[in-house]
This record gives sequence, C-alpha cells and structure tokens, in this order.
Amino acid sequence: MMYRMTAVAKLVIANWKMHPRSVPEAVVLFEKIKNVALGLKGAKAVVCPPAVFLSELARELPKKQEKILLGAQDVFWEMEGAFTGEISPFQLSSVGVKYVIVGHSERRALGDNERTVAQKIAITLKSGFSGILCVGEKERDLEGEYFHFIESQLKSALTGIEKKDVKRLIVAYEPIWAISTTQSSRPATPADFLEMSLFIRKVLADMFGSALAKNTPVLYGGSVNDANAEMFLREGEADGLLVGGASLDAKKFGEILRMADSL
Ligand code: PGA
Repeated sequence: MMYRMTAVAKLVIANWKMHPRSVPEAVVLFEKIKNVALGLKGAKAVVCPPAVFLSELARELPKKQEKILLGAQDVFWEMEGAFTGEISPFQLSSVGVKYVIVGHSERRALGDNERTVAQKIAITLKSGFSGILCVGEKERDLEGEYFHFIESQLKSALTGIEKKDVKRLIVAYEPIWAISTTQSSRPATPADFLEMSLFIRKVLADMFGSALAKNTPVLYGGSVNDANAEMFLREGEADGLLVGGASLDAKKFGEILRMADSL
C-alpha cells in the first residue's frame, strides 16, 4: 500500500469543452469562479476554456497566485510549423496556460490515437506544463478486461517519458460510461474509483518507481456535480476532480470548490 504523508491541495479542473458561445459569457463565468477560487486554502481550481478565450481570461487572472490557473483542452505535438488549425505549446505558454488536458475521450473519438496521445503528453510535460492525461474505458466487463485496457492506455501514452517530466503528470480516470453526455450514463461509485486509482498507481509504480507513482495526482471525472463531489474526494480518496457539465454552472462549480477546500 502506498500512503501519502502530506496533505496535498485538491485539484478541481473545469473542462468547459466547446462552451460558452461568446467572450462576454466566458468572462462572466470565469469571474464568478475566480471569486470563489481566490478564497481557497486547501484546494486549487484550473479552468480549461476553449483556446479562443484563453488570452481574454488570462487578463482577468491576478498575478502571483496559484489558486486559480488556466489550462488548455488539447495541444499539438510540434512546437511550431505548418500545421493549419493546431495550437502549439509555445502559443499556450504565451497566454499563461499552466495545465494541458491530453487524450480526453472526446478528442480520442475525434481522431486522437495511442500514438498522438503519447506525442502530446510528451511535449506537454517536456514544455513544463502540468499534463492531465485522461484514461477511461468505454464499458466494464465482468472479467475485468477494462483494467488491462487502462494499463495499455497508460503504457502507450507514457512509455519513454523521463522521470523528471513525470513529476508534472496528473492522471484523470474518466470512464466513458460515466461522462454526463454519454447516452444513459451513470456516475461511477467512489469504490469503483478507489479501486481503479490504486491500479493506476500500481502501473505507474512499475513504470517509474513507487515514489513518483505515489506523488502523481489521480483525479476522478464523469458526471461530477455539487451533490456527489464530496464522496469521490472522501470515500474515493480522489486527489481531485475533472468536471465537465457542472463547471458551466458557476454556482455548482463554486460549491464543488468550497467542498474540496473544506476537506
Ligand atoms: P461531465 O464531463 O462532468 O459532464 O461528465 C467530464 C469530462 O468529460 O471531462
């Protein structure tokens, strides 16, 4: 068993996906989240808006604080070049991004594969960002095959990553069957998450050693809201949460932040 000796701030990540519709709406939502986040003591907020809003939101961000930071929902695997439509690590860094989500199931459904996810997480970590690697099975089978699936997602994405870069790795376990927009979705249980997070740490320990594995935050994502967040953090012992739908509602997301802060 690997226990952590020190309490680490809970990380609550807002994944806005392709919302909201306009800059003014994004600013209003961000301001409300920021007002709650700046009062946090034991939790941290990361807001991942569509890339087109990043520089505007960066202007709203007070300097020299880490209670609320900006993240990107994706990144390209080259630093620059002729890649129409893509966004490079240089560009994300120039607008103040500190975190990058890589391999979200919706990006995988749109074409990311094991190779591109590996390239993206490698350049993300090498460029100095905290990289949030999303893993998650489509469905669960009775034989536990899904554990092998998660293991292969981790291994294909992380083989070859240098240990010094693994220090900035965050893993988000987001079973696709639990994501709110999946048809007939249902949230996982804290026990589902806890079991999987121990397994994820075991795979990471085999790859990078137990010290790095035990310090890698493992987050839960999938239909998190203000009513169930607490049980994932408490009973599920999650290091944080990746929140989609509920992060577009400032009141609900604010509640999740306050709750994470109180633990
Ligand atoms: P959800 O999305 O919270 O709306 O289920 C989570 C995600 O896809 O990151």
